[in-house]
Amino acid sequence: MRLLSTKATCNSHGQDSSYFLGWQEYEKNPYDKVHNPKGIIQMGLAENQLSFDLLESWLAKNLDVAGFKRDGKTIFRELALFQDYHGLPSFKKALVDFMAEIRGNKVTFDPNHIVLTAGATSANETLMFCLAEQGEAFLLPTPYYPGFDRDLKWRTGVEIVPIQCNSSNSFQITEAALRQAYEDAKKRNLRVKGVLVTNPSNPLGTTMSRSELNLLVDFIKEKNDMHLISDEIYSGTVFSSPGFVSVMEVLKERNDVVTDNGVWNRVHVVYSLSKDLGLPGFRVGAIYSENDTVVAAATKMSSFGLVSSQTQYLLSAMLGDKKFTRNYIAENKKRLKRQQRMLVSGLLKTGISCLDSNAGLFCWVDMRQLLHSNTFKAEMELWKKIVYQVGLNISPGSSCHCTEPGWFRVCFANMSEETLALAMKRLKNFVAAESQRNSSSGCSAGALLNNNNGSFKRKSLTKWVFRLSSRDHHREQEER
Ligand SMILES: Cc1ncc(COP(=O)(O)O)c(C=O)c1O
Repeated sequence: MRLLSTKATCNSHGQDSSYFLGWQEYEKNPYDKVHNPKGIIQMGLAENQLSFDLLESWLAKNLDVAGFKRDGKTIFRELALFQDYHGLPSFKKALVDFMAEIRGNKVTFDPNHIVLTAGATSANETLMFCLAEQGEAFLLPTPYYPGFDRDLKWRTGVEIVPIQCNSSNSFQITEAALRQAYEDAKKRNLRVKGVLVTNPSNPLGTTMSRSELNLLVDFIKEKNDMHLISDEIYSGTVFSSPGFVSVMEVLKERNDVVTDNGVWNRVHVVYSLSKDLGLPGFRVGAIYSENDTVVAAATKMSSFGLVSSQTQYLLSAMLGDKKFTRNYIAENKKRLKRQQRMLVSGLLKTGISCLDSNAGLFCWVDMRQLLHSNTFKAEMELWKKIVYQVGLNISPGSSCHCTEPGWFRVCFANMSEETLALAMKRLKNFVAAESQRNSSSGCSAGALLNNNNGSFKRKSLTKWVFRLSSRDHHREQEER
């Protein structure tokens, strides 16, 4: 007799992916300058810790709000009892204004069309429940955020079919790749209910172009029963040109006629304050849709993941302070840009390059020349060396479903400049030592670890602590 449900015990949650395993390894041995200077530096977590001082100084100036007072009088009881799943009107208004501000006020959002959720995690899952049946599919460009396997598939039974993107065009979505994914889904007898993209992309750290967005809108327009979800959780992090273009801006420019089945009713935006404001612990997310039926269904479903009333109250005051938000957005971008530059130049000094990026809290780093062979097995070997020998937790491209071995997502906004400098020093020493070892064993100097003529002798890795995850194992089987 089974004690637990199949849902509780099935492994489509993805927790055995190297993305989550890396976090576990970090937890066992976290770097601390004083108490654990040899520990693992966490570079696998997309957290924004660069602008906490700005939030803290706002709080210090607004003690009444943080103490749950309005006009000097306590509103504790009012907040304690509030449980309306439509959310506080003042917070919804402040949030949509903040979203518009991030988009340079080129688009506006109607607070009646927003659904509050406990983070973007809940927003994405709620949209799956609203738009697709179990066994239906969404198309996602690769590489994609590893959490999507959990958020989109696990409890809903929805399938993800990859739109295979690659480095030849900087991982942009092409029409051929989009149509191929659609055909792949059909071959698997999966009905496609839509396309989901992250813009700016996690893990690429790049914004989508107008032409990519128009390609997607044209595609869902052509297929009458498909939706487009744009997860814009990183929209406020765009620190360099080209600037951010929201799918809502593209819709507005296109002037498509508004009909019940038109694209306006089939495009939905996901947002959250976890990245732009650096508040993942507050669990504030949202779905924005012009489709009344979707808004009504998602609002009902949001009872399972509401945003607490004291959080809404506090943030309605903070986001309602327009002078503060304008300054915060500009200053936060400046800091992200500086830190990203530091990572990129540190890597370059080690001979490692990144995809040219303009947004996000991470870079998409090309370590293909460090692989022993062009396989995902070699990627895992390198990753384990970087975690255990170098002491950096970064995320292998395979955990993001990248189709080319050797790419890694490296986060830069969750640490001080000093820690980032130490991480770069550790990596530089590692690459130098490996290259020294290779040259003394007769490997060509051109490739640091990789020898394209195949004569390189693979060294055995004694430090492999955990087994390959089942997906990695599966990939290897396919490679053989
Ligand atoms: C693209 C994307 N969507 C959703 C999430 C989940 O965010 P939240 O903390 O708001 O649930 C993340 C977090 O890393 C993300 O990168």
